[in-house]
Amino acid sequence: MPPTIPAWQYNEPAHPGADFDALAESYDRNMQKFRNIQGEIEEILDFLDLQPDQSILEMGTGTGEFALAAARRCRKVYAVDLAEGMLRYAEKKAQARGIANVEFLPGGFLTYRHQGEPLDAVVSQIALHHLPDFWKQIALQRMAGMLGEGGKLCLRDVVYSFDPRGHEKFLDEFISKAAERAGPQFARSISDHVKNEYSTMDWVMQGMIERAGFEIEWAKLGHGFFALYLCTKPKVH
Ligand SMILES: C[S@@+](CC[C@H](N)C(=O)[O-])C[C@H]1O[C@@H](n2cnc3c(N)ncnc32)[C@H](O)[C@@H]1O
Repeated sequence: MPPTIPAWQYNEPAHPGADFDALAESYDRNMQKFRNIQGEIEEILDFLDLQPDQSILEMGTGTGEFALAAARRCRKVYAVDLAEGMLRYAEKKAQARGIANVEFLPGGFLTYRHQGEPLDAVVSQIALHHLPDFWKQIALQRMAGMLGEGGKLCLRDVVYSFDPRGHEKFLDEFISKAAERAGPQFARSISDHVKNEYSTMDWVMQGMIERAGFEIEWAKLGHGFFALYLCTKPKVH
């Protein structure tokens, strides 16, 4: 049974971005083409320094590539996503790779209720932009609430650090370069993202992360368009 939500709450299943249920296989193929998935995974695993007794959660796990890599380094991974199609696809990959310590769970940033022990880390990649800013703040608070003291948050997303006063020139050039590098389909996906999704500015995102109680250990801003935040929930003395 999906949880009942208050009438005023943002209805995340009504705004999943693309139809990720239908897209799982082609999404997986395209991401391997357009992103340095292994490099992204290593960047996060290096920061997390996972131990065999630790448990982590990935929110918006998609086709599960990060969750499956992390599962080899820790006790348990909770892999959560709104799209049942993505979860089923990721679960098949886990079975094919003989990985049994990932639990695939339906749920969203605003609705998933963590039942297990406090987590050692929460990771979310290219998913938080599905929420408008107020709801991003609530999602960040909720993720902080799932972590134990000293727990880590790794957040990668499309976040804007270009100067909005020059947004027309920046976006035209950025999208044409994407077309040259990776073809028209990829360029269209970027254009659609800018038009339809709730990506926000870096200074807003950093403020929200800090207001949710995290210390940002490292912020990496890429091409004015992508960001990775490696954060810690401080220990209370
Ligand atoms: C662009 S994909 C990213 C998948 C994966 N994390 C990656 O890096 O490739 C976005 C994923 O977020 C999920 N998603 C969308 N809205 C969500 C929400 N409100 N809560 C949790 N997951 C959500 C989608 O179903 C999709 O699997």
